[in-house]
Amino acid sequence: MARPRILVLATGGTIAGMAGSATRHDYRPGQIGIEDYLARAEDLGLQADLDGRQIANIGSEDIGPAIWRVLHAQIAAALTDGAYDGIVVTHGTDTAEETAFLLDLTLATGKPVVLVGAMRPADAVGYDGLRNFANAVRVAGDGRAAGRGVLVVMGDRVFAARDVRKVRTRGSDDAFRGFPRGSVALVTPSALEWFGAPWREKSGARYTFSEHLPDVPIVYVNAGLDPDLIGRLAGPNTLGIVVAGVGEGNMPESVRVRLAQLASQGIAIVRASRVDEGLVDREPDDDTNRFVAARAFNPQKARLLLQLLLAEGIADPAAIQAAFDDPYA
Ligand code: DGL
Repeated sequence: MARPRILVLATGGTIAGMAGSATRHDYRPGQIGIEDYLARAEDLGLQADLDGRQIANIGSEDIGPAIWRVLHAQIAAALTDGAYDGIVVTHGTDTAEETAFLLDLTLATGKPVVLVGAMRPADAVGYDGLRNFANAVRVAGDGRAAGRGVLVVMGDRVFAARDVRKVRTRGSDDAFRGFPRGSVALVTPSALEWFGAPWREKSGARYTFSEHLPDVPIVYVNAGLDPDLIGRLAGPNTLGIVVAGVGEGNMPESVRVRLAQLASQGIAIVRASRVDEGLVDREPDDDTNRFVAARAFNPQKARLLLQLLLAEGIADPAAIQAAFDDPYA
């Protein structure tokens, strides 16, 4: 069987980080360049041919629209380039779920696109980056990954972009989880086991990528939240607000009243939850308030989806709700 040809796009993160000592507590993400990284990976005996490109070399807290634009363009070109069978993106873990979800919503799904990171820097005891990288290359070279959208590999688990979230700040084996669907595949030394069939029936990009996404702040609810905070977060260009509500997307009555006023003026309001595994169902009051329920999307993913919808001129709460019910329809 021909060896798959994989394009590796490097953005930095801990997977390319160095501490300068095996046991130091602090370290810098994004220190190893892609050429050096691929040279280190040579000893792994990967069953694939790799080309590398450096997109950035930074911590993922600094990744945003400008880098997403370059990444999106490079992946879109590679998807139509017969030279590549799959794409791996090395990325910091802090915002990997956001980059993965944005790409998932805005790229065609013809070939595997896999994000991978690490929880420990390259010179630390127990560096997990090369194992994760080897697993990501396996997944990107597997034709069965196609039709599952953008994937994230951490440890031996493979997650779908729509489900994946970072749930721990420490620990290399359980820092990521899929919700509500768990992991979608498991990489073992001898096999790559997929759980279930591909779920993306339509292979085209679902939404148009834009570097200039509308202003959509996240209002984080806490006990005793002052509704005036909303006025400080929402400016004249704000088109939508995501509420990181308590429990199932709840908020103090004074906050609800303020947000319902904004909704009646045409600002899109999406109720998500600040709870890690928060599932926000639609309630009868959402009709009167003109609110949207985020379902299983956490606030940061709800924000990206809402931004893409608003950028396409979709502002009606019922149409936004339909997209949150099934963003890939
Ligand atoms: N600041 C982090 C980032 O690049 C380092 C954490 C990591 O990559 O695990 O997302």
